[in-house]
Amino acid sequence: MRILGIETSCDECAAAVVEEGRHILSNVVMTQIPLHERYQGVVPEIASRAHIEWILGAVRRALAEAQLDIDDIDGVAATAKPGLIGSLAVGLSFAKAFAWARGLPFKGINHMLAHLYAPQLEETIEYPFLGLLVSGGHTIICRADDFDSIAVLGTTIDDAAGEAFDKVAKYYGFGYPGGLVIDQLAERGDENAFKFPLPSLHKGEHRYDVSYSGLKTAVIHHLHSYLRPGASISPENIAASFRKTAIDTLLSRLYRAVRDTGIRTIVAGGGVAANAYLRRELAGKKDLRVFFPPLSLCGDNGAMVAGIAWHYFCRGEADGWDLAPSSRVMDFKWRQNHP
Ligand code: KG4
Ligand code: ZN
Repeated sequence: MRILGIETSCDECAAAVVEEGRHILSNVVMTQIPLHERYQGVVPEIASRAHIEWILGAVRRALAEAQLDIDDIDGVAATAKPGLIGSLAVGLSFAKAFAWARGLPFKGINHMLAHLYAPQLEETIEYPFLGLLVSGGHTIICRADDFDSIAVLGTTIDDAAGEAFDKVAKYYGFGYPGGLVIDQLAERGDENAFKFPLPSLHKGEHRYDVSYSGLKTAVIHHLHSYLRPGASISPENIAASFRKTAIDTLLSRLYRAVRDTGIRTIVAGGGVAANAYLRRELAGKKDLRVFFPPLSLCGDNGAMVAGIAWHYFCRGEADGWDLAPSSRVMDFKWRQNHP
């Protein structure tokens, strides 16, 4: 079974063809970074307009690179939630129209479940495992019992991990997109130049939650207060010390979840899963089985959408033409659960 997967939840216009949930026949990611760069952040209106202009070309390229004809596609899937609503609507509507016109089954996909599935395009991973979902919009520590069944243990109570990277980079003018730029600068910096405060969320309901607003404020407004004697202020040192604190915060909650649940398999996903320090730290944990997507599958892509969709289709599950996109998913954001 060959599935066409479409992903337009944010600023990547992506389409891919994946066979039997695993074999990537093509994976086209058309990035909108040049369109948003001058604003140092994704402008939703520009994003959805570009998706409208690019989506047909992305799908045509995905078919061509897979050396397939339109008749060779057996099912169509697109990201339905969470994401920018205008951007989601483009990919979802395109996928529904494609499937309807060809008489194919159609499935709307949860973007974060797709990120968690990304490493499974390369390896077989047994459930249950602990998921670390870290992107520009979400920071989630969860227990996964199946490809479509996760229990959220912790989230961020304010900014998402990727968002914190993006905001710090934007403030200092390090470049765009922020996560990657900080990661690259940090490789040349001293991670102990600054000792930024770790958020102290130890109380019952926050056992696995993280917070980034305090760290962001420290890095942006009170930099001098955290400079260690003998260390110097440089972009590299700011980036390295910030990266270490941001990732250590995340890891402390993850390790706590490992201790509490006894689950020793970790699966990471989302754009921040590309972070070099995060990958190194987890790879060094010999008592854990850790799975990361390859760098090419950390960010938004259609392959993870097509891959996970295959499992739904195997179960005979498809969605109707009335499926609407949704910008949010209950449980994925702390404030929605604790109004
Ligand atoms: O999953 P993704 O591509 O889109 C969303 O679903 O949000 O994640 C994008 C986020 C951005 O905030 C970006 O700055 C961050 O992932 N990111 C990184 C790195 N590469 C991308 N953050 C830290 N280190 C990186 N190497
Ligand atoms: Zn994403």
